[in-house]
Amino acid sequence: MQNTFPTLTVINHPLIKAKLSKLRNKKSNNLEFRNLLNEVASLMVYEITRDFPTKKVEVETPLEIMTCETLAKGITLVPILRAGLGMVDGILHLIPNAKVGHVGLYRDPETLEAVEYYKKFPSNMPETKIIMIDPMLATGASASTALEFIKKHGGNDISFVCLVAAPEGVQKIMNEHPDVPIFTAAFDRELNDHAYILPGLGDAGDRIYGTE
Ligand code: URA
Repeated sequence: MQNTFPTLTVINHPLIKAKLSKLRNKKSNNLEFRNLLNEVASLMVYEITRDFPTKKVEVETPLEIMTCETLAKGITLVPILRAGLGMVDGILHLIPNAKVGHVGLYRDPETLEAVEYYKKFPSNMPETKIIMIDPMLATGASASTALEFIKKHGGNDISFVCLVAAPEGVQKIMNEHPDVPIFTAAFDRELNDHAYILPGLGDAGDRIYGTE
C-alpha cells in the first residue's frame, strides 16, 4: 500500500480500530456516532502531530528558569462542511488554540462534482500548519477542490485527515495534490454507483446530525 499510495498513512491503533467498528455499526445512534467520531479524531491527531516541529521556550518553574519546547508553528484546522465539523471538537480538545477555517461544499447529485457555497480562512493561515478534515474520502472531488481553495489563500503546509478512505479518492488527491499527506483510520474497498464507500459507514453527515 505504501508503494501504491505513497502519500497515504493508515493509522493503526487498537483504540481507533475499536471505535471505528462502533462507528461502522448501523445500530450506533447519532449521539454515539458524534462522540466516537470526536474520540477517534483526538487519537488520530495525536499521531498526526508526532512530527510537527517544536521550538525552544524559556519557562519559569516555581524553582528556576528552564528551556522547554512548544509547537513551532500555529495550527489551522479546515473542516469541509458539514461532516468535517464532526471531528473538529475532538481535535480542538488536544490543540485548543488552533484556528478554524471553513470550506462549504456539496456534491452535485448528478455530476458528483463539488460545488462551493462557503469559505472563510484565518488571515495567518499561510504561516501555519494546516489540517484539512473530512471523515469520508470518497471520490476526492470535494477534498481536491477544498485543497485548491486553501492553496489559493496561501496555505502551503497541509495534511488531510479523514476517517475512511476509498482507493479512488486517495488516487485523485495523490495525483492532484502530491504534496498533501493523507491520514486515515481505514482504507476501504471501493465506491458504489452513488459514490458511497463500501463497506464504509453510510453518510457521515447524516449520522452525525440525525438527518437520515
Ligand atoms: N460521504 C459519506 O458521508 N459517506 C460515503 O460513503 C461517501 C461520501
